[in-house]
Amino acid sequence: MRFRLFLVVSFAALSVACRPETPAARLARQLRGAYPEHAAPRGVVRTFDIEAREAELPLIDGGKLRVWAYNGQVPGPELRIRLGDTLRVRFTNRLPQPTTIHWHGVRVPNGMDGVPSVTQPPVEPGGTFTYEFTPKDAGTFWFHPHVRSSEQVERGLYGVLVVEDAAPPPYSRDVVWVLDDWLLDETHQIFDRFNTPHDLMHDGRWGNFVTVNGRTDARLDTRGGERIRLRLLNASNGRIYAPEFPGLEPQIIAVDGLYLARAIPLERFELAPGNRLDLDITLPGGPASRSFPVTDQFYPARPNHLADVVVDGAAPTAPPRFASPAHARVPAWSEGLQIPATKEFRLDARRGGSYGIEWTINGQAFAGHEHHGAPMLTLERGGWVRLRFVNASYRLHPIHLHGMFFRLLARNGAPVDEPFFRDTVLVHSQETIDIGLVPLDPGKWMMHCHILEHAEAGMMTLFEVRG
Ligand code: C2O
Ligand code: CU
Repeated sequence: MRFRLFLVVSFAALSVACRPETPAARLARQLRGAYPEHAAPRGVVRTFDIEAREAELPLIDGGKLRVWAYNGQVPGPELRIRLGDTLRVRFTNRLPQPTTIHWHGVRVPNGMDGVPSVTQPPVEPGGTFTYEFTPKDAGTFWFHPHVRSSEQVERGLYGVLVVEDAAPPPYSRDVVWVLDDWLLDETHQIFDRFNTPHDLMHDGRWGNFVTVNGRTDARLDTRGGERIRLRLLNASNGRIYAPEFPGLEPQIIAVDGLYLARAIPLERFELAPGNRLDLDITLPGGPASRSFPVTDQFYPARPNHLADVVVDGAAPTAPPRFASPAHARVPAWSEGLQIPATKEFRLDARRGGSYGIEWTINGQAFAGHEHHGAPMLTLERGGWVRLRFVNASYRLHPIHLHGMFFRLLARNGAPVDEPFFRDTVLVHSQETIDIGLVPLDPGKWMMHCHILEHAEAGMMTLFEVRG
């Protein structure tokens, strides 16, 4: 009797083990250990008060600029917490418009995602809302409004959320550079017509001043031998940067928050609106003080000066010795291209709508969060899917998904093996890309172009994760 029972049990185990695993199930299984499924709160609540209001600040080249700001600062306050901390933000809206805060790149519970009329009612002028969640990932994230973003972000509403590792690597310094550009008029104030036909028909609003942390003369003073973690974020409405550091040899350690499988040298990296890039830079020592200009080479014929890294002439310190942080469990998902795409999204434009031009996804222009209709796609929690984006237009579209990370699998059908996840990827003119992902959090999530004028004019949609 016992013997027979044993046989039955082991046969059952055997048949489970031998049931052929589908390729998609195998890819989903490869995600295990890449990043946690659930948050692990350690019982520490970090509370911040944030108020959005008008302010006048000495930005750009020092002149008084009228902006909209979080806590009277542009960039807004840097929220720095430790992995496992619970973030509580008590938000008050003192703007003349409704607003919300979206936590870009953070895997939040759906109700904390800050999407007006989808995950919360918009916060009316004078109103308040408390955001509270425990980030599941350490890394560089940011926050910005999700109401009239093409105006509100452009006026200065954005800030950085740094979630430090439980045991942060011992860098000499940890520095954030927020890249933005500003379109100023003759009076040197923010040009106050937003979503112009020009911006809508091109790649959004590109400004006439490029700044780092709000200044055209940003500099980072360092000492030879120091090892720096430099976190770059593109908070521009439309401009894309390809940052170059001649004379320095940055290694990329993280993209869109998460560590790479292994650090790689910075070669051309297109930092589109929304993207983050964490660099590991060891400064050379030298007998005299030296300045290293950092430039944007997105259009090599029209480079922009971004900032200077200045190394003083003092005797160099010994660089801290440690391996660059990495996270080896980034699945290759190379078989993913053999699995049929679950859905194809065609990105295009047409005449019409309240701006005269509409940006569409599969022929639909998002008609405001209040009238969003049915989600364009429903996915099951935990399943691996491939999504394809076909850019039928001649413009740029940095596609961003809320609430999850994905891997870029191919450009124009040719496999791409980036050793990292993303939450935003630039799709070039007439290009087709494929991405792979496993949604883990149920809810209604947005997918949109992060050129904010394109999003405003319709290139935005919802998909639902069921689970
Ligand atoms: Cu920065 Cu809807 O995103
Ligand atoms: Cu776009």
